[in-house]
Amino acid sequence: MSAGPRPVRIDVEDALEYARAVVTHFHEDETDEQLQPWLPELRADDYRAWVVRDRGDIVANYGAYGMDVSLPGAGTVPVAGVTAVGVSQFHRRRGLLTAMMTAALDEAVEAGEAAALLFASESAIYGRYGFGVVAPSVSHRISRPAPFRDPVDVRLVEPIAPGAALETWPGVYEDLRRQRAGAVSRNHAIWRRMLLEDPPAWRDGASARRLAQVPGRGYAMYRIKEGSDRGLPAGEVRVSELVATDPVAEAALWQHVCDIDLTTSIRAGLRPPDDVLPELLGDRLRAGSRVGPPLYARLLDVATAFRARSYAASGTLTFEVVDGTRDQSGTYRLEVEADAVEVHPTAAEPEVTMPVDVAASVWLGGVRATQLLAARRLTEHAPGAAARIDRLVAVDRAPWTPFEF
Ligand SMILES: CC(C)(COP(=O)(O)OP(=O)(O)OC[C@H]1O[C@@H](n2cnc3c(N)ncnc32)[C@H](O)[C@@H]1OP(=O)(O)O)[C@@H](O)C(=O)NCCC(=O)NCCS
Repeated sequence: MSAGPRPVRIDVEDALEYARAVVTHFHEDETDEQLQPWLPELRADDYRAWVVRDRGDIVANYGAYGMDVSLPGAGTVPVAGVTAVGVSQFHRRRGLLTAMMTAALDEAVEAGEAAALLFASESAIYGRYGFGVVAPSVSHRISRPAPFRDPVDVRLVEPIAPGAALETWPGVYEDLRRQRAGAVSRNHAIWRRMLLEDPPAWRDGASARRLAQVPGRGYAMYRIKEGSDRGLPAGEVRVSELVATDPVAEAALWQHVCDIDLTTSIRAGLRPPDDVLPELLGDRLRAGSRVGPPLYARLLDVATAFRARSYAASGTLTFEVVDGTRDQSGTYRLEVEADAVEVHPTAAEPEVTMPVDVAASVWLGGVRATQLLAARRLTEHAPGAAARIDRLVAVDRAPWTPFEF
């Protein structure tokens, strides 16, 4: 960016001013009262806010939660959860996002974060900064009746009050994170907002949030939008999150949300590509699945990121990373011997070369290296190297973060 307003890191004491800027730049019109539920997490210690001011007013904003992400092998690594990115319509396309991104990713590196993660409002925005798809998602639109192939006893599912859910659901979520890579940590302020806050403005014409659980094993949050079609009930169930840690609890929760009286359709977004739902249904086409928004990652420390996870097989790989915007370009040697993992820079010839966004895609096994090879996103110098990556990084369950941050 040339001379002009610069990004500054702010202490979000006046969280309201920052929150106002965030929603304005998303073209939303929340009142100060409607913004109140967001303020505690903006003021939390693990939230880092960047802004650009012009003549005193915030004209660009950026946020990052200090989070960690679950890894194959049940470990975690610190990451920045990028959020609240926006630039005023009167200041766009002048490099303000680039300036904020550069400063905030520098800060993430200083904080010891090995990657930055985000969901994008538009997929075209972040590739230029080295973000690649780390965890693809799917969205379902199920038509009711949706018969289940082998139903379980749905009476396992019970209602729960928000306060009680706040006590127990974080533990279930942590159990999920031990089963699935790619799931970011969720702090108390976010849990609180997601369970205790529910102003009418968040409902998009649907009911208040409904909470259901199989105690200690899984939970679902959803709303019901009333509707009718030529005199017949045609409501819609909108599932915002359904998480379970064992197959029976998961089946019971899906049966519960897919068979609510007065509804004819069920929507569930941000589901993992290996979601169990299509397999639970007698007819998998009834899941109405399509590609959904992915989680993106920007590797800030390639060696740490690849060293922190465990691998599906012993083996070695010499891979070259090309980083056009930060300092991660180089050739790395990955050595896996049973549980011992070593990753270090090497002067050896690489067996494969990939841009840093592609390295993020293979990191957690979310996108197959052989698919990226076929798409010419990755270059093999040793035949079979892409297939070897896939054997090393293979995961039991697809990486998944079940909520947008
Ligand atoms: C997306 C947004 C933050 C970009 O901010 P900005 O300050 O205009 O971006 P910059 O000027 O730093 O742009 C950097 C580059 O990205 C490109 N770019 C920016 N936004 C883009 C978009 N939405 N689609 C495609 N390219 C985009 C610019 O053209 C520029 O390219 P160049 O370097 O080749 O010239 C801004 O348009 C915005 O606030 N949009 C609405 C809210 C939003 O979508 N936020 C993202 C939330 S995930």
